[in-house]
Amino acid sequence: MQQDFWLQCWQQNQLGWQQDEAHPLLRSAPSDWLNASPVFVPLCGKSPDLLFLAQQAPVVGAELSEIACRDFFTENQLQATRAEAGEFVCYSAAEIKLWQGDFFAMQSAQVAECRRIYDRAALIALPAPMRRDYVNQLRALMPTADLLLLSLEYPVGEKNGPPFSVPAEEITRLFGFAEVTLLQQRDLTGQGFARRRFDTTYLTETSWRIRW
Ligand SMILES: C[S@@+](CC[C@H](N)C(=O)[O-])C[C@H]1O[C@@H](n2cnc3c(N)ncnc32)[C@H](O)[C@@H]1O
Repeated sequence: MQQDFWLQCWQQNQLGWQQDEAHPLLRSAPSDWLNASPVFVPLCGKSPDLLFLAQQAPVVGAELSEIACRDFFTENQLQATRAEAGEFVCYSAAEIKLWQGDFFAMQSAQVAECRRIYDRAALIALPAPMRRDYVNQLRALMPTADLLLLSLEYPVGEKNGPPFSVPAEEITRLFGFAEVTLLQQRDLTGQGFARRRFDTTYLTETSWRIRW
């Protein structure tokens, strides 16, 4: 997706992906993944998952929108410091640091402390050609990583993304260099995705642990 699309979503407060509380598939992640080591959250928005993760470990997020970064801290009554760093602005409070800027322009030094990655609505936010670039960038940023990935599956012809359907075959292909394990599946048929309703024949949310 083009950056303008996302910036416009934030400007118009069209946040259909926004959760009200931490994601159940994050809460039920394997206990050895939910540890105290710093975690990177690409395309993090103002997700409540950031707060959940920060209860256990330092969190480093990446987010394009200034509105998202500012709202995250103010809505959670956190007093953030703001520092400009080249193409990025770094917001930081307590255990949470958000790099505001383009994820694809990040350098490994910005996530140097992280060994884990949490992806909810990041990979599935991107159209197919960008998903390969996204995985390549994750790999470039973190030569070793333990990724908890939440994905979504529905019949492709029945709805346009985002969120896009990213089925098991694509995940195993994209992460062919890594150890890929399916953890859990949630049937969301007839329910929807966060604030959005879906009229698809089926809708399944999956969680994956991917290590490289
Ligand atoms: C579907 S939302 C998901 C947000 C968050 N992960 C959540 O679960 O609430 C995708 C987010 O990615 C951000 N984004 C899109 N392209 C980006 C980029 N190139 N760099 C950083 N953030 C980006 C958007 O602004 C948006 O907040």
